[in-house]
Amino acid sequence: MSGELSPIDKAKFVAAKRAVDFVEDGMRVGLGTGSTAAWMVRCLGELVRDDGLKICGVPTSVRTAELAREVGIDVISLDEAKWLDLTIDGADEFDGDLNLIKGGGGALLQEKIVATASDQMIVIADVGKEVEHLGAFPLPVEVIPFGWQTTRALIEELLVSMDVLGRDASLRMNGDHPFVTDEGNYILDLHLGRIGNPHQLAMALNQMPGVVENGLFMDICDVVIVGHGDGRVETRNINEGTVEQDRLDFLESENLFSDLQD
Ligand code: 5RP
Repeated sequence: MSGELSPIDKAKFVAAKRAVDFVEDGMRVGLGTGSTAAWMVRCLGELVRDDGLKICGVPTSVRTAELAREVGIDVISLDEAKWLDLTIDGADEFDGDLNLIKGGGGALLQEKIVATASDQMIVIADVGKEVEHLGAFPLPVEVIPFGWQTTRALIEELLVSMDVLGRDASLRMNGDHPFVTDEGNYILDLHLGRIGNPHQLAMALNQMPGVVENGLFMDICDVVIVGHGDGRVETRNINEGTVEQDRLDFLESENLFSDLQD
C-alpha cells in the first residue's frame, strides 16, 4: 500500500512519524485534526499497540477522538488532563517565525485551546505549507451563528484598516448548508492574500463580538517538522534555533497503510 501513497502523503507521513519520537511514556498528548494529524494518530496507535507506549490523548475534534479510540489510544478530555506535555497538529500555513494559519479542517477553536494548554506544540507539515508571509490560505474565523452576517460585515469593515491585500469573507459551506463546527459555530474564511501584521489582526479579530476565535496561531508553535515526498524530514526548533535533517524509511510502517479508507 505504501507504494500507492502520493508524494504529499509520504511527506505528511514522514513528518508524523518523526513527531511521535517526541512522545514519551506517561505523557498527556494533544491530538490535532486533519489529514497530517491523522497520520500522527495512527503512528501513535502503532506505538501503543506494538511497543506498549502508555499515553493519554486529548483530541481536538470529534473525528480525531474517533480515530484515536479506533487505534487504541486512551482518550481523555482536556478538563481531565488539565495540562498537556505536548500537542502535535498540522497546519495550513507556517512562516519563518513558526506562526501559523490553522482551521482548514474547521477545528481551530479546540486546536488553539489544546495547543495553548501544552508545554510544547509541534506542527507537522509537508513542505508546501511553508510561506514567506501568511495569508494566501484563507484565514478561518469561527463565529457564532447569531447575527453572523452582521459579524461578517463588521469583519470586512475592520479589514479596511488592516495591512492585508483582500477583504472578502465567505461563509464556509457543507453542501447546501453552512459548515458547523464541533462547538456549533460557523466559519468565515477571510481571503486576505497576504497578512502584513498577523499579531495585530489576530488581536483585532478576537475583540469583535460574534467572533469566537481566529485561525492565526501566533507564538504558540515551538517546533515544525517538515516532511518531503522522498522521506527527508527537517525539524526546526524556534526556541533552540536549531534545524535537524533526517530521512525516514516508509517500509518500516507498512501495516499503517493496509487499512486506510481514503
Ligand atoms: C484543522 C487544521 C489542520 O491542521 C489543517 O487544516 C491542516 O490539515 P491537513 O493536515 O489535512 O493539510 O487546522 O482545523
